Amino acid sequence: MAGKQINRSLLKKDAPIGVFDSGVGGLTVAREIIRQIPNEKIIYFGDTARVPYGSKSKETVTRFSEQIVRFLRTFQVKTIVVACNTASACALDALERDIDIPIIDVVKPGAKAAWEATRNGRIGVIGTEATIGSQIYTKYIQNLNRDITIYGKACPLFVPLVEEGLLEDPVTDEIARRYLTELIDIDIDTLILGCTHYPLIRSTLGRIMGEGVRLVNPAYETARELKEMLGQLDLLDEEPLGLGSNRYQFYVSDKAEKFVHFANSIIKYGILSAKAVNIEEY
Ligand code: DGL
Repeated sequence: MAGKQINRSLLKKDAPIGVFDSGVGGLTVAREIIRQIPNEKIIYFGDTARVPYGSKSKETVTRFSEQIVRFLRTFQVKTIVVACNTASACALDALERDIDIPIIDVVKPGAKAAWEATRNGRIGVIGTEATIGSQIYTKYIQNLNRDITIYGKACPLFVPLVEEGLLEDPVTDEIARRYLTELIDIDIDTLILGCTHYPLIRSTLGRIMGEGVRLVNPAYETARELKEMLGQLDLLDEEPLGLGSNRYQFYVSDKAEKFVHFANSIIKYGILSAKAVNIEEY
């Protein structure tokens, strides 16, 4: 958290948390937030009309992210979770510069967890082309320990496979094998799932990497950090909501039906609807 001063008077305990991703991947982060701080309300935005972000420029991803933050702030959210590695890598600096509420990304917590996990000092990170190209994980991890070697591998086909729901499928298996073989050959002992879509194909990735490789899911670490930060700011919502309360709201930038179906398979909560919004208006 850096940049503008946080304006404490804007922050209410019972306000929702704003979470966003380019599509369904951020649901893996929302799921962890729901598990770890179940009293919190969430406004989720998935940019389904403009996914993938991973093949776009830093400027474009920054512009998209700024629009989404403006949209989420119309709900008076008490914090923003950038539940997308690509947006964290490309846009976090710009977002932090302009925002007066707390903002959390997924990269820093993931980098720290990998640094804690490695024994042989050889960490692999898989992500989108933009995330790997930015070297963001390398920078964060080497700030913690310069002697650790980080091997990045862009896996651009994973996001469309996940968005198409091909989570357990021979096609996904074959593509994962092609991407991961070189990481197996260089003897990493830790692999960061550096894209929020990837925990959804975790079992395939784990099977291919083998038991000796620890998989780090930044979604889990991010929720832990969020809980800690809200606690420190005395912003944890302690009031359990009654039945039927609209605790989680989902917004997308394209057709909502497919998203709702997908979201229900990830967050077993009975999500009835998602609203489509024209994000270009923000
Ligand atoms: N889920 C996103 C990430 O964590 C990005 C996927 C994409 O839009 O390319 O990087």
